[in-house]
Amino acid sequence: MLALTGISSLVTNDSSLERGKLGIIENAALVVGDDQRVQFVGEATNLPREFNSIAIDINGRAVIPGFVDSHTHLVFGGDRAEEFEARMSGKPYSAGGIRTTVAATRNSNNDVLVANARRLASEALQTGTTTLETKSGYGLSVVDEMRSLQVANAITTESTFLGAHIVPAESQVNAYVDLVCGEMLAQCAPHAKWIDVFCDRGAFEVDHARAILQAGAKAGLGLRIHANQLQHGGGVQLGVELGVASCDHCTHLDQADITALADTKGKTVATLLPTAELCTRSKFPDARRLIDAGVTVALASDCNPGSSYTTSMPLVISLAVLNMNMSCDEALWSATAGGAAALRRTDIGNLAVGSHADFAILNSRSHIHLAYRPGVKLIDAVYSRGQLVAGSLR
Ligand code: NIG
Ligand code: FE
Repeated sequence: MLALTGISSLVTNDSSLERGKLGIIENAALVVGDDQRVQFVGEATNLPREFNSIAIDINGRAVIPGFVDSHTHLVFGGDRAEEFEARMSGKPYSAGGIRTTVAATRNSNNDVLVANARRLASEALQTGTTTLETKSGYGLSVVDEMRSLQVANAITTESTFLGAHIVPAESQVNAYVDLVCGEMLAQCAPHAKWIDVFCDRGAFEVDHARAILQAGAKAGLGLRIHANQLQHGGGVQLGVELGVASCDHCTHLDQADITALADTKGKTVATLLPTAELCTRSKFPDARRLIDAGVTVALASDCNPGSSYTTSMPLVISLAVLNMNMSCDEALWSATAGGAAALRRTDIGNLAVGSHADFAILNSRSHIHLAYRPGVKLIDAVYSRGQLVAGSLR
């Protein structure tokens, strides 16, 4: 049991509270029950008296739901600092860089991969991420994809089979697609919740992506897709056609893509990954156009050693606000409830009564500081399931 008072601004994301989409309560109190779920949220003056003796006053700081980072690639060996340096000297980003990490991952044993994934998950936790999805995709053989998923399962229950990240150097595309849809999927599906395909220039074409996602659906996996990151193509339309939970990147969209996403009425989320654009010096996706068209937008980090080597959701939020014309409220919603929607979850990403007590205490009076103070450490404490897991209450 935990009770907090003195919350200057409590973001619940419970729109039934009718204070905007963020459901903000000022001068609030929050109670976590023994079931590790939210038991009470409301104005501190309405806190049931029985909690007064245990209540901790947090002295006028904001509380937000923990971030839901719905797109990361944390299972890999090595890094690509040299590739980054070359890119900053003018060499363009290409999907082919993935093969460097495939070689390093195949050469790393499971203990090394688990330690690296844990290090990154813990880094993410320090900056307020309480749920993350993570993918395989740097193994690209039956055995290396399977052990990548076992590593992913050591840090999350939201694990994604991405055998179709790129065609490995030793394979031909048709034979590799057959392998992914056949033996690799059969071995990997029991270890994954989702299947994803990188449908883009230098990776997989639409027809191959369709075959792989359909095979994944048949094996009982939920669907997601990397689409329209590097160039305009049919990835988003394919995602909508197949009813995927999320089309990720969405950097190069035309009006037909936006209309198709909007017509799903939130069934298919557009997940934007602005740190990938930041770290590849690319143009940012047009979040404003998506939101104005009625598309449900999530924000995630895409943490991976190639295009976006950061776990920081506060950085993602500040980019979304400062470079993508999202409002402070929209960006926070997309990084919490939006991420949950991209994972088809309603029990996380919000602090409504009954939801998991995953939240962060900021060192400011409101969530606006997440965008207003870019690059600054703003998270004082992080709670997962009602337990303090990072920072301190001081
Ligand atoms: O989401 N787009 C595909 N996959 C990653 C990049 C992976 C890499 O460069 O290693 C991404 O940006
Ligand atoms: Fe990605």
